[in-house]
Amino acid sequence: MSKLAIIGGTGLARLSDLKIVHKQMVNTPYGPASAPLIIGELCNESVVFIARHGHGHTIPPHKINYQANIWALKSLGVEQIIAVAAVGGITEKMAPKTIVVPDQLIDYTYGREHTFFSDDFNPDRHIDFTRSEFNVIDGGVYGATQGPRLETAAEINKLEKDGCDIVGMTGMPEAALARELEMDYATCAVVANWGAGRVDEEITMDQIETNLIDGMKRVRILIETTLPLVL
Ligand code: HPA
Repeated sequence: MSKLAIIGGTGLARLSDLKIVHKQMVNTPYGPASAPLIIGELCNESVVFIARHGHGHTIPPHKINYQANIWALKSLGVEQIIAVAAVGGITEKMAPKTIVVPDQLIDYTYGREHTFFSDDFNPDRHIDFTRSEFNVIDGGVYGATQGPRLETAAEINKLEKDGCDIVGMTGMPEAALARELEMDYATCAVVANWGAGRVDEEITMDQIETNLIDGMKRVRILIETTLPLVL
C-alpha cells in the first residue's frame, strides 16, 4: 500500500526515476481524476504519482478536478502528499529556480469546488489549516490565484502587501481538500519566474521552462532524499 503520493505540476508531468508497477484510472464520486494514477517504486518506497494537469498538460488550473484527484489518492490509502508546483516569485528571496516549501497560504481563487463537505456539513468539519508539518526548506506564504492568466504588476504588488512570498494557481483548493480528508500535505514549489513587474522584462514561456527544468532536477533530488525520512 502506498502511503505517499506526489502530485506533479507544470514541469513535472512524470517522475522519470519512478519504477512503474501499474497504472490505474480511478473514477470517483466527483468524476475522473486528471490522469491515471501511477503506482510505482521510488528509492525502494511505494509511491503514487498523478499529473495534476493531465497527460500532455491539457487541463488549466481552474478546470482541474481537485476533488477527484484528492479523493482518488485517498481511495488508494495515501496518507501524505507532496504537491509539486511552479510558482512566481514575489519577495526578494524568491528568485527564479528557488525551491520553497510554503507553510501558509492565502486563497484568491473562486468558483472552484473547494470542499467535500457541502452537503453533510457539521462543526467538526472546520479543519485546522494553520500549520504544515513538513518544513524542509524555509517557509513562506503562497498566494493562490485563479489563472490561467498571469497577474498584473499591480496584483503582484497587492499580493506582496497581503504578505504573499510566492504566487501560483493550483495550491487551492487542493491543499484544503487534502486536509479535509486528513492527509498530510506539503507543497514543494519551484520558482519559475519573477512575478509580473518585479523585473523589467517580459515573462516568457521559454524562460519559465528553462528555470523549471533546472528547478525540477533539484526537486527530484529533494524528493528522493526526503522519502526515507517521511515513510
Ligand atoms: N503567477 C502565477 N502562477 C505561476 C506563475 C506566476 O507568475 N509562474 C508560475 N506559476
